[in-house]
Amino acid sequence: MPASPDLSERHVVLGVTGSIAAYKAAPLVRLLKKAGAAVRVLMTPDAERFVTPLTLGTLSEGEVLTDVFPENEDGSWTKHVTLGEWADLFVVAPATAQTIAKLAHGFCDSMLTATALSARCPLLVCPAMDREMYRHAATQDNLDRLREIGYEILPAAHGELASGLVGQGRMPEPGVILERVAEIVAGTDTNEGPSAPPLAGKTVLVTAGPTREPIDPVRVLTNPSTGTMGYALAKAAAGRGASVTLVTGPTSLSPPSGVEVVSVQTADEMNDAVQARRTGADYVFMAAAVADYTPTDPSPSKRKKTDEGLVLHLRRTPDILKTLGDHARPDQVLVGFALETDDALENARRKLKKKNLDWIAVNNPTEDGAGFGPTNRVTLLRHDGPSEELPLMPKAEVADALLDRVCAAQEERTS
Ligand code: CTP
Repeated sequence: MPASPDLSERHVVLGVTGSIAAYKAAPLVRLLKKAGAAVRVLMTPDAERFVTPLTLGTLSEGEVLTDVFPENEDGSWTKHVTLGEWADLFVVAPATAQTIAKLAHGFCDSMLTATALSARCPLLVCPAMDREMYRHAATQDNLDRLREIGYEILPAAHGELASGLVGQGRMPEPGVILERVAEIVAGTDTNEGPSAPPLAGKTVLVTAGPTREPIDPVRVLTNPSTGTMGYALAKAAAGRGASVTLVTGPTSLSPPSGVEVVSVQTADEMNDAVQARRTGADYVFMAAAVADYTPTDPSPSKRKKTDEGLVLHLRRTPDILKTLGDHARPDQVLVGFALETDDALENARRKLKKKNLDWIAVNNPTEDGAGFGPTNRVTLLRHDGPSEELPLMPKAEVADALLDRVCAAQEERTS
């Protein structure tokens, strides 16, 4: 369990809306309070059907507000303005499709929406709704509009939904929201209005893990990739506001929250999944260790030992990244990875060119701390710039360093 972040002297307004996930607002308030934040809770009238103001008021140690014009008129109708000024961060969790639509279009029919309109601080929206509602073009358009305004969206997580469906739509867990709150607050010392994260509105496609190529129903050809690098990239990109799809071979890792996960086994399946999504992706990070060969004719039943030796016939798998490079959109950013044991830079530069990539991250798995473990030491090569050697660091930090550079170069290119 990571240490609780320090949010002392920070002011967080938590807006709770009418979703079944409203019950998770209670542990979220507790986590925020435990981290030292001062918390004020605003609820929409529908939210009160799911969790009581008494519960959230007790946990937050403050009055919970719902109406812009409260019945016991005490001049408090201007509270949306004062609260908007007071807040260092406004979190809407859970955020229903209805409230997202209202926020996107400037409605102010409740204390929550009116305060959001008055707020000068960053605003973090954590959607929660059923799969089809989340996927619906209207909701996605509204989320895009919020990103344009400068709000940050913490994408809904995958999993079982209240309807019984499985898919994207779950509110991110309170711990995940707290982590993002701490990151936003850490980077926000001034109260100057909403700031868009660098990948807001962008679509990022990441591949991770090994592939498994069947020899027969019980045997495979594979490699020791753990998927850590790709999962770290997917998490970091989602944290920066991107809409992320992770195409993953078999790993033992839990998928990062808020990321669409497509599970595959073989190189052919990975190729199909990636090519189907290639045109929509603004950035592609090909971190998977794709098998270069697969058995030509996998046996449908378990092979028996007959001879002393066995010759397997293998065929080349499609080079997924090369196909992406051959068909890349002019504004698309392609990032490859290369494992090289000899002439690393020379070989990597050759791959960069051959596959028409923007970047390649190369590492030597025989070096201490590099390769298939939790850390890596990579050198970044850019198609139009010099190489940069990064120090040995955990893969989560490699992911951040890589995103920093790739995003900065892209911003430069498009500005
Ligand atoms: N890659 C791919 N499809 C393949 C093989 C590799 O998309 N069939 C991608 C990897 O995900 C990686 C990059 O290509 O991002 C380089 O992979 P690597 O294994 O280092 O290089 P190869 O192209 O396979 O060349 P070689 O094995 O000869 O070094």
